[in-house]
Amino acid sequence: MPTQETETQQADDQLITTDIQHAESTRREQPDQTVLEARDLDVFYGEDQALRSVDIEIPEHKVTAIIGPSGCGKSTFLRCINRMNDMIDVCRVQGELTFRSKNVYDEDVDPVALRRKIGQVFQKPNPFPKSIRDNVTYGLEVQGKSATDDDVERALRGAALWDEVKDQLDSSGLDLSGGQQQRLCIARAIAPDPEVILMDEPTSGLDPVAASKIEDLIDELVEDYTVVIVTHNMQQAARISDKTAVFLTGGNLVEFDDTASVFEDPEDDRVEDYITGKFG
Ligand SMILES: Nc1ncnc2c1ncn2[C@@H]1O[C@H](COP(=O)(O)OP(=O)(O)OP(=O)(O)O)[C@@H](O)[C@H]1O
Ligand SMILES: [Mg+2]
Repeated sequence: MPTQETETQQADDQLITTDIQHAESTRREQPDQTVLEARDLDVFYGEDQALRSVDIEIPEHKVTAIIGPSGCGKSTFLRCINRMNDMIDVCRVQGELTFRSKNVYDEDVDPVALRRKIGQVFQKPNPFPKSIRDNVTYGLEVQGKSATDDDVERALRGAALWDEVKDQLDSSGLDLSGGQQQRLCIARAIAPDPEVILMDEPTSGLDPVAASKIEDLIDELVEDYTVVIVTHNMQQAARISDKTAVFLTGGNLVEFDDTASVFEDPEDDRVEDYITGKFG
């Protein structure tokens, strides 16, 4: 009989059919490989349309920032990517969204396997009321895998938290500071070794020092993962991202380009108005 683990692995196998600021980065010099692609993507909540005919190609091992005014569909877009919108009864998705050329909405895609490949970090740090160790191992155990001490250390190191918590792995994750809690959530997200990490305003509730640590961490994460981050903070988008996508009210993606081009020479006047703070 197949174990849960082999079933998950099989589902994974089915699934995969087929800047300015990062001065030192060598990843720039490599040709862009698309990891996620939306084609004519529409999203509705009941009668209301939240995204309109979105076309985008998100490159591997880059940071893609999603910016735009409140209600323009940024979180909706992020949730489409790993099918978190499945949890919202009234939500309907049309068009195509592919992860490594496979439409994530195909019937044979297992959303749990998909979320193992495409992890998520939310705006408000949401560690479980469990030990630091259990928060990290949860990411693996939910996928039917057992977690070793090495796995825990690797994930916490990957989230730049190990040195701060290595002597208190059995204390509650809730006793950590807000910034540490968010890095614990990042450790939980990277424990199953995903390919993509989605982040929805991950620093908006943090003080500037804690936020800056997460920004530095994102710069490291992108060596191993592809990062898609929603942010309301223009400076943050300009600092940390390689590509920037600008959504405007109505759910239209109006500009998507290298971050330097979007911020220094946007094509669309409305984007210029938005990034210079004239609205939004
Ligand atoms: N669960 C839901 N049910 C119904 N409508 C929703 C739901 N979630 C979002 N919407 C609607 O979809 C549109 C896009 O919302 P979304 O949360 O994606 O925007 P956003 O760009 O992330 O905004 P913010 O910057 O405020 O987080 C809004 O009009 C919102 O009211
Ligand atoms: Mg949002």
